[in-house]
Amino acid sequence: MAKIIDGKAISAEIRSEIKEQLKKLDKKPGLAVIIVGNDPASKVYVRNKRLACEETGIYSEIYELPEETTQKELTELITVLNGCENIHGILVQLPLPKHIDAESVIMTISPNKDVDAFHHENVGRIMTGAPRFLPCTPAGVMELLARSGITVEGKECVIIGRSNIVGKPQAMLMLAANGTVTVCHSKTHNLAEVCRRADILVSAVGKAKFVTADMIKEGAVVIDVGMNRDENGKLCGDVDFKSVEPKASYITPVPGGVGPMTITMLLKNTVAAFEQSK
Ligand code: GUN
Repeated sequence: MAKIIDGKAISAEIRSEIKEQLKKLDKKPGLAVIIVGNDPASKVYVRNKRLACEETGIYSEIYELPEETTQKELTELITVLNGCENIHGILVQLPLPKHIDAESVIMTISPNKDVDAFHHENVGRIMTGAPRFLPCTPAGVMELLARSGITVEGKECVIIGRSNIVGKPQAMLMLAANGTVTVCHSKTHNLAEVCRRADILVSAVGKAKFVTADMIKEGAVVIDVGMNRDENGKLCGDVDFKSVEPKASYITPVPGGVGPMTITMLLKNTVAAFEQSK
């Protein structure tokens, strides 16, 4: 039987640490969140970010822009926020509508306020081991491991998925922690065989029940970054929890695993941006 890594509890612990830390400050860190259009999932994420800011004592401004917002209008808003003294972090919720080039929008965010760590300068810093901000979801995974007493050094770490938001930065953080890292993707041969090498398996695929028991080494740590809907419309991860859990030593549930950590790491980055602005 695996130990369940309780992301909700670990997240609450970190949030209360942040809250205590902020009580000692005479000024509040500020976060601006921009959402364009009506994507229902994005709306929920943005609402949760606002609530998390309120809970911890971070000042927040939410910009809800209509679907037809132009790239120019969006970048003009970012330019204004780049110059705002009470705003230390800026986040543009992805995905953006198709007529907007997300890459160039992200590049207009000041690297000093880029709390998602998506700007090329911040990505480069992560690559070279001198991060300004840690990417939120991968950092959340590292925090879950650390607070569960799981070390990465010397371990076989296998990541399924190579996105810019999770897979690639996750590989960098695990490498920085001295793990031996393999990144798998849709073109990987013998995926199950590669996964069975993993002491720590991180799945960020986006397909329900993608990771099955035959892909797991006995006693592996299984981290599920997936956020999917099953055949009944219920929220579930990438991992077939029922079959995998008995083989794993530790496993994260969905919901209540990695999910709550992403926003908590965003709060941490906003506080870091505030501290760095002094
Ligand atoms: N959409 C899904 N995940 C993320 C994230 O981590 N940051 C932003 N800005 N948008 C997202």
